[in-house]
Amino acid sequence: MKLLITGASGLLGVNLAVEAMRAHKVIGVDRGKLKSAPFQVIQADLLEGSAINSIMDASQPDWLIHCAALANLEQCEEHPDHARILNTEIPGELANICAKKDIRFVHISTDSVFDGTKESIYLEEDEPSPPGVYSRTKLEGERAVQKANPQAIIARVNFYGWSLGGRRSLGEFFVNNLREGKSVNGFADVIFCPMLVNDTARLLLEMLQKGLSGLYHVVGTQAMSKYQFGVEVARTFGLRENLISPQSVENSSLTAKRSHNLWLSTHKLSTVLGHEIPAFSTGLAEFYTQFQQGYPQKIGSYQHFAAF
Ligand SMILES: NC(=O)c1ccc[n+]([C@@H]2O[C@H](COP(=O)([O-])OP(=O)(O)OC[C@H]3O[C@@H](n4cnc5c(N)ncnc54)[C@H](OP(=O)(O)O)[C@@H]3O)[C@@H](O)[C@H]2O)c1
Repeated sequence: MKLLITGASGLLGVNLAVEAMRAHKVIGVDRGKLKSAPFQVIQADLLEGSAINSIMDASQPDWLIHCAALANLEQCEEHPDHARILNTEIPGELANICAKKDIRFVHISTDSVFDGTKESIYLEEDEPSPPGVYSRTKLEGERAVQKANPQAIIARVNFYGWSLGGRRSLGEFFVNNLREGKSVNGFADVIFCPMLVNDTARLLLEMLQKGLSGLYHVVGTQAMSKYQFGVEVARTFGLRENLISPQSVENSSLTAKRSHNLWLSTHKLSTVLGHEIPAFSTGLAEFYTQFQQGYPQKIGSYQHFAAF
């Protein structure tokens, strides 16, 4: 299949491209960071007038996975109009074009559409109640996609992994700081379901392959606090877990409101796929193996010209 990926320089986009390249022709959309990626790149800013039509005409994909977003919660609070265009309007526009051209469309949404006040696990049927600009514009994006293209897949995700710049994910945050012997805080009152981004990518491709449509939680199966996640990373990498202090998110300097409970059920996804969702322990083991095998450097090298 010919797969178009927006946000190909992002944490999900670049790892998805690497996973998809094994079986598919990949075309990534990038604003200029990718200088020597091993897949085809179209340079474009999705906010520019005719960019979307030009990209679609130039790429003619069978599948489109839309990973581009304004995914920084603080920036969304500061620039709500920018967040609305990127997180709501552009997904709706892409979904509409894909519906007309018979292109299978996957929209990437977020676990944080929930405000976290439920005391048990969140199901796809639960009514979202977004706590801030990021989550509200992402939820409105889900609705715009659903309306324009009912056959689309909408995936609410949460992932960690190795990124282009080496600093995008929570996993990298703990590894980078602990390797330098620095003390860090880990939120003990934010529960989430982390998944290795490569597992997320493989699941998204499987969902397309199986012809799914509709809303799915595509997150890890083990709920834990961000502090616990840091401890698990430290143990796997042989780093000092006592450098991590449990802290409340309420005492942090973050300006955007965070949900305390983002424990999401993956029962719907595992049922339709007919197999278990990859376990947290195997994802974390792969994160470490990737580190040992130079995967972070490989991903990082895509942003530089290759040396000849
Ligand atoms: N990280 C998580 O755990 C998490 C959790 C929940 C949901 N999500 C969702 O997952 C998706 C991917 O997130 P991520 O963590 O991979 O995000 P990311 O690393 O911040 O990547 C965002 C991507 O969007 C691109 N982009 C932003 N504005 C653009 C524009 N005007 N034109 C073209 N491209 C533009 C960025 O390009 P530049 O590199 O040029 O800025 C980058 O490639 C997003 O929809 C996000 O909401 C992520």
